[in-house]
This record gives sequence, C-alpha cells and structure tokens, in this order.
Amino acid sequence: MAEKAPNEVGEPPSVAALSIAETATTEPPKAKEQVIDPWSVEAGTDEQGNTLAFDYEAISKKWATRLIDQALLDRFTALTGHKPHRWLRRGLYFSHRDLDRILDCYEYGKPFFLYTGRGPSSDSMHIGHTIPFEFTKWLQDVFDVPLVIMLTDDEKALFKDSLSFEEVLQFARNNAKDILAMGFDKKKTFIYSDLKYTGGHFLLNAWEFSKLVTFNQVRGAFGFDASTNIGRIFFPSLQCIAAFATSYPEIWGDDPKSDVRSKKTAAIPCLIPCAIDQDPYFRLVRDNCHRMKYPSPKPALLHCKFLTALQGAGGKMSSSNPNSAIFMSDTPKQIQKKINSHAFSGGQETVELHRELGGNPDVDVAYQYLTYFEDDDEKLKVIYDQYKKGELLTGELKKMCISLVQEYVKGYQEARAKITDEVLNEFMTPRKLEWKGNPNPKKK
Ligand code: TRP
Repeated sequence: MAEKAPNEVGEPPSVAALSIAETATTEPPKAKEQVIDPWSVEAGTDEQGNTLAFDYEAISKKWATRLIDQALLDRFTALTGHKPHRWLRRGLYFSHRDLDRILDCYEYGKPFFLYTGRGPSSDSMHIGHTIPFEFTKWLQDVFDVPLVIMLTDDEKALFKDSLSFEEVLQFARNNAKDILAMGFDKKKTFIYSDLKYTGGHFLLNAWEFSKLVTFNQVRGAFGFDASTNIGRIFFPSLQCIAAFATSYPEIWGDDPKSDVRSKKTAAIPCLIPCAIDQDPYFRLVRDNCHRMKYPSPKPALLHCKFLTALQGAGGKMSSSNPNSAIFMSDTPKQIQKKINSHAFSGGQETVELHRELGGNPDVDVAYQYLTYFEDDDEKLKVIYDQYKKGELLTGELKKMCISLVQEYVKGYQEARAKITDEVLNEFMTPRKLEWKGNPNPKKK
C-alpha cells in the first residue's frame, strides 16, 4: 500500500509537494538497478535519481560466485608463506570461483597458469588499468607460474565503430609496454595481440568452442541482437579459449605445427584475475570446457571491484573523462591538481563543522585511494579513525593521498621508460616458458 498523501485527509499539500508537482514536466526518476556486463557498467540509482555505489554482494549473489572469506585467505598464507596482498585483505578482490582448487594444485605442486588481459582502446592507461596488472604480477611472483596476457585489439575494433584495426594494433603495442612496466618476469610471461597471434591451436580451439555455443546462449549475457555484427558474435570464443593451456602449445613445449593438441596440456588448469564484469565470458567457458575434444578443467576466477572514479562511488575511472582518473602519464602537478579539485570528499563544509561532526572516510575518494596504495594496515586504521573523529582534515588527507599516488606514478614512469621495442618483442614471441611453482610441494 502506498502511503496516504497529506491532501487525502484534507490537509493542504506541503510546499515541497507543490514544487515537485509544478516542475515535474517529465516522468519522475525511478530507482534503477545496476547494470554489469562486459560492455556496460552502470551503477544503480535511487528513487530520486541519485547514483548509488555498486552493490558487489548483489552481483556475486546473482551470478553465484563465492565471496572471499578469511578462511580462504588464511589457507593462502599457510600454503604460500605470503601475507595476502592488501587488495585481497581489503576486499578490492572480493569474489572468486574455485580459487580453493588452484590452491590444491599449488599445495601438491601440480602445474597451473595465470591468464589476464586488456582491451587496448586508447593510448593512455590510468591507475584503474594498472592495478589489475600489478596484482597479477604479485600472483605470478607468489605462485611462480606462467602467465599469458591477452590484448584484445580485435575486440576493441569490433565494438568501437570509430576505431580502425590499424589503430588498435598500435594501441596494443603501446599498452603492452605500459603493462610490462609493472615488472613481469620475462621467463614466465607471454603477452600477445589477438590480431597478430591468433592462428594455429588457438584458432582451432576458438572454432571448436564456437561450435558448442549457440547464439541463444550468449545473446542475453552479452546483449547481442539480430543487428549485431558477426565479428562481435564470434569474438567471445577467443576470450574464452584463451583460458585453455592448449591455445599456447609453445609455452609447454608442444609442437604448434602438429594438427593434434596435447591431452596432457589440456588438463592444466587456469586462474583468471579479472574485474567482475568479465565473468560472463568465463561462465561460458566453465559451462562448456568439458565438451571440448581435449577437455580442460573449469578455469578458476578471482574477481575485483571497479576502481572508484575521482568523483566517487558509483563511478568508474574512464579514459574518455580525463577528470575521472589519474593517468599514468600525469605529472606530479597534474596529480595534485586533480586530487585537490576533483576527488570527492567525505569531509564537512567548513573546518569548524568537520572538527565537530567528523568526516566520512567510507565515501571519501582520497581515503579510498589511500587504501589502494598504503600497505600499512595499522597506519590506515589510524587515518580512518582520525578522519572520522574530525581530527584529520580533508586537506591533510588529500595531501597524503597525493604523495602516495605521485610516488606510484613516478616509479611506474621510470620503469616504463626502460621498455624498448626490443624488450617488447621478446615478451611477445611465442616460446617455451620457465617456472618453478611451489618449492616444497606436499606428497600425495
Ligand atoms: N575484454 C577485456 C577488456 O576489454 C580484456 C580481456 C581479455 C581480459 N581476456 C581477459 C580481462 C581476461 C581480464 C581477464 O578489457
């Protein structure tokens, strides 16, 4: 039952009600649910049309993923001897599928590999792009396993009408250099452009996979309709089969020229760190991998949240909005200016009010960014409490944030300057990789 309007009991309408009635020329905004799929990510809105924060528990529930809990993190630490990365401790990586099975592999010294990727849609990467790669590098260091990095230049040309295939090829090379600046180990890392590498066993897998999946099965999850170009419809096959070890015969020392893929290689499982919006692809793999001629295990996943835009929760950093993100090419001055003028603040209007009422670190973007870069949990907690109590001012919080971000970007720019074409070509050459895995595996 709707609440009784005041005028039903004979009272005059309130001023607020009057002004709404008089100015409402269009439909009043209704609450909208968040939309998350690989091509569009939009936070929900409330009845008044205000943007809400993303509801990650809701998406995990809807897609039946598992939330990462302390027991899983404890097991991770016990097995690897490493404290979980701060992005795991603080829930930026918040959900998974079958991570426990990958830990089983590690425990018994069984091989597995890491797979991640990027759609190279522009020349400039921002912090939101580099964080997943920094995390993946950390995973590679901890597990000591092979890593493949897919650059979906084909995807970007197919999904963005304004981009040509020539342009995305160039973006792919430049983005590959940006990614390698995170410090990946050359012996264990293969990075490739779809447009250049795809062929051989990779393409064979893609065709075989495409035969298993109908248009009906993907149209909903991917938002396709009858006027979608056919390149877009085939593309998911590629992103999916990139999770099969047989797509990279060179890495394992299999013969790429042979018409036959290796059954043994097919059995090597894969762990995919990715943002939650990529999950629909990998559900498709998980549903169909056992149907391949050389069946592979279901890939495991580690999902992260979207990096908060400078404007605050519910926003996503975007290359097309320079004020929404810190770019890896930004100067220290630009970083300072952006954070000072655009970072959404959870502080009060005036210093007096702030001292009296305290700030809200949970919505404060400078604080959120500190959680990305400050490794010291204790220090962070002190900052949180002080801000909440009003002891710490917004300006002071922003200052800490600025210097951490400047440091991160500077370190990155120095590393990026060392990635020459020659280095890039080495990483992009299909070849046998070398790794050790768990140094002290348990015997069965
Ligand atoms: N489609 C992703 C993007 O647009 C790129 C990608 C390909 C990817 N394979 C992946 C991302 C695996 C994460 C994991 O950015």
